[in-house]
Amino acid sequence: MKLFLDTANLDQIKKLNQMGVVDGITTNPSLIAKEPGEFEDIIVGICREVRGDVSAEVVGTTHDEMVVEAKHLSSLAPNIVVKLPVTPEGLRATRTVSSAGIRVNVTLVFSANQGLLAAKAGASFISPFIGRLDDIGQRGMALVEDLVKIRANYELRAQVLVGSIRHPQHVIESAMVGADIVTMPPEVMEKMMQHPLTDSGLKRFLDDWQKAKKIKQATTRQDGKSFT
Ligand code: E4P
Repeated sequence: MKLFLDTANLDQIKKLNQMGVVDGITTNPSLIAKEPGEFEDIIVGICREVRGDVSAEVVGTTHDEMVVEAKHLSSLAPNIVVKLPVTPEGLRATRTVSSAGIRVNVTLVFSANQGLLAAKAGASFISPFIGRLDDIGQRGMALVEDLVKIRANYELRAQVLVGSIRHPQHVIESAMVGADIVTMPPEVMEKMMQHPLTDSGLKRFLDDWQKAKKIKQATTRQDGKSFT
């Protein structure tokens, strides 16, 4: 399973990438809008930092606009994946650009039917937004289960990339049902590392070590051996 960060903030990306657990990045226009600087500079900076796939989304709404943008975005770096919305025009554009060899992440997927159409249109990735479904009282994870099953039934090429993650439990559940990728805000990845028993356990180890050190140092003074 791959873990992606859902952010355009280079500092946060660098911090977590140093740990060797970041397989890729997803962005969207809202995330890009939060960062200073030009869209393309931000994307190129991220592509230099992360070896894995980096999703960059178009803002055009017609087939022709999306195709022009997609071709330009894909020329910025070899690890760019173009993000297109699952609208009728977006599906048409997915077929056009994927046929030209450009990898597409079809985004804003809220139903299994939308995901199936995205896969048929040539998507390399399908992005169900589960947090937004949970927000309106639906079970987002049910959509992930359906997409994973459909993908397996027909050995579809498109990978299920779970987005709109709100908390670490979403990550565990996505892994349990066999999603290919989860993309999460940096805060969620930070939370995945934390456990109070790890902190208290480490404190106890270090306290015991210091106590033993003092005792052994006292002994050393008597027999001449050292303890580090
Ligand atoms: C995924 O590709 C999207 O950028 C993202 O996960 C959207 O999540 P949100 O619902 O937190 O905005």
